[in-house]
Amino acid sequence: MKYDIKKISLAKEGKDRIEWAGNQMSVLRLIRERFKKESPLKGATLACCLHVTSETANLMIALKSGGAKVILCASNPLSTNDSVAASLVKDYGVPTFAIKGEDNATYYKHLHAVLDEKPNLTMDDGADLVSLIHQKRKELLGSVVGSTEETTTGVIRLRAMEKHGSLKIPVLAVNENLTKHLFDNRYGTGQSTIDGILRATNILLAGKTFVVCGYGWCGRGVAMRAKGLGSRVIVTEIDPIKALEAKMDGFEVMPLLDAISQADIAISVTGNKHVIDEAHIKKAKDGVILAQAGHFDVEINIPSLKKLAEKVRTARPMVEEYVIGKKRVYLLAGGRLVNLAAAEGHPASVMDMSFAGQALSAEWMWEKRGTLEPKVYELPANLDVKIAELKLQSEGINIDKLTKTQKDYLSSWEEGT
Ligand code: NAD
Ligand code: ADE
Repeated sequence: MKYDIKKISLAKEGKDRIEWAGNQMSVLRLIRERFKKESPLKGATLACCLHVTSETANLMIALKSGGAKVILCASNPLSTNDSVAASLVKDYGVPTFAIKGEDNATYYKHLHAVLDEKPNLTMDDGADLVSLIHQKRKELLGSVVGSTEETTTGVIRLRAMEKHGSLKIPVLAVNENLTKHLFDNRYGTGQSTIDGILRATNILLAGKTFVVCGYGWCGRGVAMRAKGLGSRVIVTEIDPIKALEAKMDGFEVMPLLDAISQADIAISVTGNKHVIDEAHIKKAKDGVILAQAGHFDVEINIPSLKKLAEKVRTARPMVEEYVIGKKRVYLLAGGRLVNLAAAEGHPASVMDMSFAGQALSAEWMWEKRGTLEPKVYELPANLDVKIAELKLQSEGINIDKLTKTQKDYLSSWEEGT
């Protein structure tokens, strides 16, 4: 079996981590058990480009149970857990190509390595495999029957490809599942981003001014949790509706140029480029901490930060100090997604729903192979609801059902005042 990981001897720690996460992934477990009986992915060679975490390992195990041959590479150079990668290879027989801290050339070498296995299905977190297949590995366009996509930025890229007429394969936007973005993006990113900032810096959040750029699904979660820990939270937005929502949720809202001079911490979660730009870096106060949790490391203008700095040093692991005149600016995790680079990403219990969505989406795509158009699909709503039902069931929560009177009332229009 081919693989490229840091050290195979880390496998024991990785196996413990994978089992710990698996204990909190009850929906995925049910899917894995059904997959084992039904083998719905038989014949599929599934190339996956995901954050290599203990939660992802449980997804790989479920997909293998369904009869797929799976191969895995990292969707970010800094998010790999090397012990998990080792255990995937040693204990679960999953060819894995991922090393925490790999350089860009190795990152792309690993993407090519999974594509060398001639997949007929791919799974992305950020659309890098699909992008590569359309640009440098076009020979695979004839054999890949579909792809699934985990994150907002990936879906934006795929929709842009569809709009420009460049998309040549059907893709399924898993991020659009309600059981994904309502929970993973909001509560997952909310908690794990704070976790990453705290693990990197060990600062006290109470009493600090915490600026959140972007009040989408992730930004809402981060703002909510920073407030919960006692920070004064300022939100910046470019969308009037989201800005109003932030205001009514109790946050201060203003342009980043005004907010940045007050910020002890500024974090960008927009999926957009140079949100924290040169002008903001110049106006920031001494000691400001900058981080981002969006998919790509473009949200902070790092080239400008480097250009402005007279001196750079590592202040702590995951914390770089840039000295600009009399001011120090701290950049976390090299500007990569702080929750996965400086912490462990989202907790397993929330990834359970995201990855249940991935498993059902892979099954849906494989079952429908040959019948789909080259466009961006969403998972049928009944499967999304099924994930929520199974999650509630696994937590021992029952809910009410519509009575006949209520069903009739909701489908009628005659009754009024
Ligand atoms: P979203 O579309 O719900 O929210 C993005 C928000 O940013 C929008 O409200 C938009 O108006 C705002 N925005 C855009 N440009 C801005 C600017 N210049 N200034 C201020 N606000 C701006 O997206 P989301 O689901 O919240 O995802 C955000 C990013 O996080 C994406 O890159 C996504 O892929 C990534 N993501 C990361 C993780 C993680 O684990 N770190 C998890 C899920 C999603
Ligand atoms: N994205 C965010 N958190 C994650 C995790 N724990 N595993 C895989 N992908 C993630």
